[in-house]
Amino acid sequence: MIIAVGNTKGGVGKTTLAVNLAIARALTGRDVWLIDGDCQGTAQTAISIRAEAGHEPGIACATYPDGSTLRAQVQQQAAKFDDVVIDAGGRDSTALRAALVLSDVLLVPFQPRSYDVWALSDIAALVDEARSVRDGLRVCAVLNCADPGEHSSDNAEAAAAVTEVPQFEYLPIPLRRRKAFANAAGAGLCVLEAKPRDDKAVSELNTLIKKLF
Ligand SMILES: Nc1ncnc2c1ncn2[C@@H]1O[C@H](COP(=O)(O)OP(=O)(O)OP(=O)(O)O)[C@@H](O)[C@H]1O
Ligand SMILES: [Mg+2]
Repeated sequence: MIIAVGNTKGGVGKTTLAVNLAIARALTGRDVWLIDGDCQGTAQTAISIRAEAGHEPGIACATYPDGSTLRAQVQQQAAKFDDVVIDAGGRDSTALRAALVLSDVLLVPFQPRSYDVWALSDIAALVDEARSVRDGLRVCAVLNCADPGEHSSDNAEAAAAVTEVPQFEYLPIPLRRRKAFANAAGAGLCVLEAKPRDDKAVSELNTLIKKLF
């Protein structure tokens, strides 16, 4: 399966989730290819840190910020892998557009903040464009860095706004703001393997994986 993590809004957790998803799938024995579609190369850096620290399994990772290269490479190589995870980078880029044409699923993380919610119309428009040239793109939106507590009004308002966007399937399984997510991805790890283990982060990631794959 090819899954892209994308949103034209920056800083919503695309790289954090892409790295966590890729490693989590590899931990179940699948061959995973992580593609960094962002010229910042953050996902690639995380995987290099992982490799240098000797963490197993290793993750195949390549950086293709240019959309036409990304598309050609994925078309040629994807069949060699069980899963391809594309960190599609922030803003409207050729890499993001290529990922929208190639992927089975687009995961759109967003944060419970007004600017994030307003920006969803931009990625929704790109989804419309992609769907005009292809069938079968599933688009899932998930709240990331959700506020703590079951009764956060900001979380609820953001979730309500997203359910109004017809292009998205809203996944009602927020990932909360947890140090474990930031620390693990920064060390080239997934929260499933990071120590000390944060059971809540582990449960949130596992729930997301079940919904996506
Ligand atoms: N669930 C979370 N809990 C705590 N921190 C998080 C979580 N998700 C992401 N972060 C932190 O938020 C910041 C932005 O995350 P990240 O770099 O993954 O976003 P991005 O969408 O890839 O950004 P960019 O648009 O710059 O590529 C990072 O410092 C990351 O560690
Ligand atoms: Mg990023």
